[in-house]
Amino acid sequence: MDAGARDEHRECIRCHAPLAERADSLAAALASGRGLAEAPPGGAKPSHQHGLSCAACHVRGYEWYGPPRRDGSTPGDRANLPHGGWSASRAFQDSRFCAACHQFQPDQYALNGKLIENTYEEWKASRYAREGKTCQSCHMPDGRHLWRGIHDPETTRAGITIDAVKPTTDSGRVRAALGIRNSGTGHHFPTYVTPKLIVEGAQETAQGKILPGTLQQMFIERRVKPDLSEELSDTRLAPDQSVTFNYGAALAPGARTLVLRVRVEPDAFYTELYRDLLASGSAGKGRRLIRKALENSIASRYTLYETRYRLPGQ
Ligand code: HEC
Ligand code: HEC
Ligand code: HEC
Ligand code: HEC
Repeated sequence: MDAGARDEHRECIRCHAPLAERADSLAAALASGRGLAEAPPGGAKPSHQHGLSCAACHVRGYEWYGPPRRDGSTPGDRANLPHGGWSASRAFQDSRFCAACHQFQPDQYALNGKLIENTYEEWKASRYAREGKTCQSCHMPDGRHLWRGIHDPETTRAGITIDAVKPTTDSGRVRAALGIRNSGTGHHFPTYVTPKLIVEGAQETAQGKILPGTLQQMFIERRVKPDLSEELSDTRLAPDQSVTFNYGAALAPGARTLVLRVRVEPDAFYTELYRDLLASGSAGKGRRLIRKALENSIASRYTLYETRYRLPGQ
């Protein structure tokens, strides 16, 4: 983006670095030609690189805001409190607090009639909204500023239930299944177009090598083109919805075990986007950073679930 294109910058930093100081710092860095990740010679880390910091959520008009105390009380004599205390607001405990950045407005970008970010509405339609379980109850447990999501294996595991049906063989065919239920995620699993879950089964040799032709896969994702021009599929699970992956293939000669697995690519969309940017040459002077981002987007992959069965009679 051009250094002077302040409105364009705002379209990104309103979520990623939302303070007036950040906007000035970003514009200055772009104008300097130094590159966004570089500090000025001998200087401190530029303000825009601090991203979404405390003040963006806790300061308005030079005044401090925060939730009431744990016992429900609010600060009385503020003069004796550190940094002049704070104004207590229940807004901090409301899911709408998160919607500003995790929910598009009805007139914002949609594909196939569905907004690209719809997390708050998905939550509102779920039993969690009725049970009073807010975004904060899952993502800021006990007030802790964790915000763990799809990038964290433990968080993601806690959001679903996986049941394996162990393999049987009949007339030379192997059958098995994996049932996956969105049992504890307060919105679609996953909510965004960015992650991809790969559910798969394969027959392996005694050495653990996958036998050719035995790998079968199913995807849980909302897949869109990298330029956001088209939705290709949407197989996400709404809260409490289930899906079954059925494995069925001829028993391969030399097959010893069947592996059933769920893998997660939290940044699948970005991997594709960064690859396209590099291949088309449009990364321009951001080439080095885009290449690093591509590496990071691949490094975040992990195995969520894996189980192996000895194939009957093998
Ligand atoms: C409505 C809020 C919002 C806006 C506006 C927004 N983003 Fe994001 N962005 C997010 C969220 C939330 C994530 C994390 C998504 C995830 O991990 O599933 C993200 C992730 C990213 C990532 C991946 C970061 C990483 O660590 O892998 C990049 C790159 C990015 N955004 C760039 C942009 C750019 C460029 C713009 C402007 C054209 C923009 N974003 C506008 C909310 C926003
Ligand atoms: C994305 C917005 C956001 C950012 C950024 C943020 N906070 Fe918070 N903060 C909240 C919310 C929401 C709560 C209320 C959580 C609750 O009560 O469930 C909170 C609660 C708190 C509390 C009260 C905690 C308690 O135990 O009751 C303190 C203190 C606090 N924040 C300080 C900070 C500091 C310091 C930073 C920067 C390091 C920061 N916050 C960054 C949103 C944010
Ligand atoms: C000012 C905008 C803003 C607000 C308000 C905000 N977020 Fe975020 N959130 C972001 C951005 C931007 C990211 C992505 C950061 C990145 O990947 O670089 C993010 C990331 C996350 C992630 C991690 C996603 C992942 O893929 O691992 C979770 C979970 C999350 N936010 C939950 C919340 C909750 C819960 C609240 C309300 C208490 C909230 N956010 C409020 C902007 C915001
Ligand atoms: C009942 C617990 C629960 C509630 C309530 C909940 N989440 Fe999540 N959230 C999860 C779990 C588990 C994951 C990891 C699995 C996944 O990505 O769907 C997750 C993942 C995420 C992510 C990562 C991106 C992605 O594609 O999934 C974001 C962003 C997020 N939540 C935001 C929110 C916001 C905003 C709210 C409130 C409107 C909210 N969550 C309410 C449990 C919850």
